[in-house]
Amino acid sequence: MAEPLKADRTDEKLDRSLIIEIIRVTEKAAIAAARLRGKLDDIAADKSAIEAMHDELNLVHIDGEIVIGEAKGSTVPKLFVGEAIGTKQGPKCDIALDPLEGTTICAKDLQNAMSVIAIAKPGSLLNAPDVYMEKIAIGPGFDEGIISLEKTPAENLASLAKAKGVAIADLNVCILDRQRHGKLIGEVNKAGASIRLVGDGDLAGVINTTNSYETGIDIYMGSGGAREGVLAACALCCMGGQMQGRLILDTPEKQHQAAAMGIDNLHRIYNLCDMAHGDIMFAATGVTQGNLLSGVRFEPNQIVTNSLVMRSTSKTIREISTRHPLTNNPN
Ligand code: FBP
Repeated sequence: MAEPLKADRTDEKLDRSLIIEIIRVTEKAAIAAARLRGKLDDIAADKSAIEAMHDELNLVHIDGEIVIGEAKGSTVPKLFVGEAIGTKQGPKCDIALDPLEGTTICAKDLQNAMSVIAIAKPGSLLNAPDVYMEKIAIGPGFDEGIISLEKTPAENLASLAKAKGVAIADLNVCILDRQRHGKLIGEVNKAGASIRLVGDGDLAGVINTTNSYETGIDIYMGSGGAREGVLAACALCCMGGQMQGRLILDTPEKQHQAAAMGIDNLHRIYNLCDMAHGDIMFAATGVTQGNLLSGVRFEPNQIVTNSLVMRSTSKTIREISTRHPLTNNPN
């Protein structure tokens, strides 16, 4: 019988072999979701990804707790915040996940749907309620603090343009195409920057700022899910970059929800390290084709997945293409 893994010591880094385990988790979820790609049924795609991720994550030798996950009471009662997960034979860790980031993208077979997970030592991730978060993010290589949620969009753009040595007109801002962003879009447009409006997927929007030469995105601005905000912070901890987030707690119910999670300052601006710090492992597998990851490819004898897996302490970024033979893999 296999010996149980060593008991947890929270002052130690995570076992780096967990990297390969978490890729399996996102791969399984991505394959499950991809089977429903373009079927115009976002609920079915989401459900399928949740179930696959849940099954696979329960095989991993961790004593995990989901701190960023599905809302309790959602259609599939799995991977919800507070759920204990893993074999319990391994280190204690906090988990942030989104089995299918971009449910609508997957249902419509558009760009950048992916399956995502981050694991960290307990207490390293912001336990954010299920609300919107105002976000701003740029990639690595700039002086700390050149962007801020306290500045206007025009001020942030001027500051980034100066740091890059370009004109504001040369900057491209990624913003979710939502009515609530009307004022922001107007201000960015007036400042002279270009705008890349995306239908969904602000996690990819933030990650894309880390490679602006290839993606053409210099900065992310706007509000999206707090869950995606924390996952984006995990990614930037590994890739470098700056990000701020502020929870949008605009109803008594949301304020109550935040208070119940121990958030006392309802207007707090969270820096990157307030949302994620320490030893963080992050994995994402593409579901649909995207500029970040290729989507799952179903071939006659195999399924091919494309993943990104990163670790904050080593700053390693691996791009992994996996061939899953159909004989061994009924998925
Ligand atoms: P889902 O996968 O949960 O549908 O999220 C897609 C997404 O575009 C996120 O990337 C983003 O943070 C959020 O939705 C924005 O929420 P809304 O669609 O309500 O504006």
